[in-house]
Amino acid sequence: VTAESEKLSTSTKTIFDYADGRGVRIPSSCGRVGQCHECVVEITQNSNCLNNRSEVEEFLSGEFRLACQASFDTQSVPPEFKLLWQKPRILESSTLSSASSELDPVIRSDGRLVYEGSTSIGSFRSSVLGLVIDLGTTTVVMELVDLSTGQVRTSRSFENPQRFGGSDIMNRISYDGTPTAAGELQKAVIAVANRQVRQMTKEIGCSPAEVYEIVVVGNTTMRDLIFGLDVQPIGQRPYKSLTETEKDDPDASTALTEKASHLGFRVHREAKVHGLPLLASHLGADTVAGMLAVGMLGNNIELDDPSETVMLVDVGTNTEVVLRHEGNFYGASCPAGPAFEGGQVSCGMRAYEGAIEAIRLDEDGKGLSFSTIGDAEPKGFCGSGLIDLLAELVNRNIIDEFGVFLENPKLSEFTILEDYNLKISRQDISNLAQAKSANYSGQFLTLLSASVDPVEVDRLYLAGAFANYINVENACSIGLVAPVLPKNIERVGNAALHGARMALLSQSQRSSLNSASSQIKHIELETMPQFFEVFVEGCQLKAMPDRIGASVQ
Ligand code: FES
Repeated sequence: VTAESEKLSTSTKTIFDYADGRGVRIPSSCGRVGQCHECVVEITQNSNCLNNRSEVEEFLSGEFRLACQASFDTQSVPPEFKLLWQKPRILESSTLSSASSELDPVIRSDGRLVYEGSTSIGSFRSSVLGLVIDLGTTTVVMELVDLSTGQVRTSRSFENPQRFGGSDIMNRISYDGTPTAAGELQKAVIAVANRQVRQMTKEIGCSPAEVYEIVVVGNTTMRDLIFGLDVQPIGQRPYKSLTETEKDDPDASTALTEKASHLGFRVHREAKVHGLPLLASHLGADTVAGMLAVGMLGNNIELDDPSETVMLVDVGTNTEVVLRHEGNFYGASCPAGPAFEGGQVSCGMRAYEGAIEAIRLDEDGKGLSFSTIGDAEPKGFCGSGLIDLLAELVNRNIIDEFGVFLENPKLSEFTILEDYNLKISRQDISNLAQAKSANYSGQFLTLLSASVDPVEVDRLYLAGAFANYINVENACSIGLVAPVLPKNIERVGNAALHGARMALLSQSQRSSLNSASSQIKHIELETMPQFFEVFVEGCQLKAMPDRIGASVQ
């Protein structure tokens, strides 16, 4: 150790060391030498006190750094940072019943463990477990399921650790196409999944080696990324996965199966990872799984009457809409962006403790009553709170349907809760209105394609991370949700996860997915002649018309 390096080590500190001192655990599996890339943190303040990015950090940009590489002078004000996988309130369960799901997993045990009825893969230890992963752009939910009983043994939910590659699908695709970053997104999510599997199996007294199958759902990009496929084609016209374009038989399934160890999962050495098939383009495995969960594929006659007109809307960073009418399927994918997940909105935040999830305003537009997650002091608004806020601002005549402040159209922001310094700006309202319009346009144009009016929908299933918490009346009043008769609207929670579990537990349920993609009429929203008109209309904070056919040219 030279005098110079000695001096350096006493006067500088890495973020990792700094976190150690504060009792914050940052993941690592490389001994902090810049190889595992598991220690990515987001610097939120004082980034200028940090050293320059090292060579091993080339794959990162913006405010993201490797905690083991970013260092600062101990004399300066320390930086503030966030881990990439704080635990938000992510909807883990579904309100749908699993009662009718038969138990017929691909792994069976009769002393020996047998894969697909023929291949022996070892002897029974104490449990036969399967893992379900719902890989969303923003959030990830995992469940460990007992394949002998069908019971969920334990579950986890966390932020998608790929955030350093951007907040939406298109950002992630372009990030993954950067030569210095190739494979980083896949590695990031598998590293976190492995860590969670270790903790989950420990929690129930088992070992990761007792996990014999993994079923993955997610939008097309997320699913293909975890399998290490090139996702660049999904980002360019015609926006298709390689599994769609490279199959010889048009009716062949787009499902993926790979040995878990080949992808980097640390589970049983013979375990396989199964990615459920896609519907079309950005309509991914999560949508198919949601359809399975609500019985739309004719897979659950107790739940579903095939003669009914049924719509499934999975609200999220990317919203998916699927409609079944007179035996035909129509589907659209709408890039709504992160506004309702707290992005691009100054008073917005993810569904963490302290997020306002519901609010009512008084006549002056000030907070009259509200509730926060965890009953904590309010820090901002999560998606359901933002929907209430928009609806209330319109109802109280504080803004008009174009989002303009009525008393003073030049006003750039309006204070909602003075004590907590919570305001909403004109720009926030505009960003939310556009995200809302993506949802509006997706539902409107899907219904229009099938010549169905909202009032004719027999059942509307609202699925997704925050759809479960929204005030449906407010969501309909601002046009986020089609004005289906209130009695026909059902919030079903995380339908994608539920469907993935059904596919893990039943080979027949799984096989009913394979024909889904050949049945669907994929609606490319931006190619429809009415798209622009509908999108502009959808930016207004008002309800969708009951009769949509009559409202467009
Ligand atoms: S700890 Fe492995 S890269 Fe930083």
